[in-house]
Amino acid sequence: MGKVYDKLINCLTCVRMRTGFVPKVALVLGSGLGDFAKEIDVVCEIPYQEIEGFPVSTVPGHAGKFIFGHVEKTPVVCMKGRVHYYEGYDISDVVLPIRLMKLLGAEVFFVTNAAGGVNTTFHAGDLMLIKDHIALFAPNPLIGENEDSFGVRFPDMSHVYDVELQNLIRKIAKENDIYIQEGVYTYLTGPSYESPADIKALKVLGADAVGMSTVPEAIAANHMGMKICGISCISNLAAGMSDTPLCHEEVQQAADEAAPKFKKLVSEVIKQLA
Ligand code: HPA
Repeated sequence: MGKVYDKLINCLTCVRMRTGFVPKVALVLGSGLGDFAKEIDVVCEIPYQEIEGFPVSTVPGHAGKFIFGHVEKTPVVCMKGRVHYYEGYDISDVVLPIRLMKLLGAEVFFVTNAAGGVNTTFHAGDLMLIKDHIALFAPNPLIGENEDSFGVRFPDMSHVYDVELQNLIRKIAKENDIYIQEGVYTYLTGPSYESPADIKALKVLGADAVGMSTVPEAIAANHMGMKICGISCISNLAAGMSDTPLCHEEVQQAADEAAPKFKKLVSEVIKQLA
């Protein structure tokens, strides 16, 4: 791994010079969902640009920082903003943050994103529990020399999204009267949205939602043995499924609509992970 490993350790040293905080949960907030950060009792914040070598997002609305703190008793490190492969970063940089959070101590990876709904029963503003993903259309983040201290060369991917965490999310959603969809998230690199024919093809393959993030990080987290759970906020119906053209602004609108139930669900789940 050489350079990739050295860069990661350099980032780790940089963070450790600022805080000794040991998180249990690593939470990544997807597009439009950054408002959740207000639920955290903050101990320390580190803007990404203050960490030497750390990838910094160029996307509007993805202003980037680590927030260290507690959700009730659970110590969390939260990423407000993340980089995407379509920004031109090496895939190893896209997964550097999740590896870093694992090295800081995080055992659970809670990933969230905005996604297009492919399943015809979905509506904008729905939340979807991620049960599995389709990663066939983009480079694997583990390509290159394997870092044996992280995980094995050929990791099993049978249960990327932890079954117990899925059950916990279902239980908490039910207790709080939050209706959640469930399904398979498909990762495409973007940045262009899909064509209607792409979406028809993805339906045949078993996709329920489509987006441009999450899967590289989930593959790297699974490689390192983290427990993973994920929620998509369905920001729009995918291409060809509604009359309106897709635009980035509607992602924020749908996220705002879903914000109260998203906040409740995510914070209650994290509290239980103390
Ligand atoms: N396609 C891909 N990524 C997305 C979409 C979509 O329709 N909506 C939000 N992120």
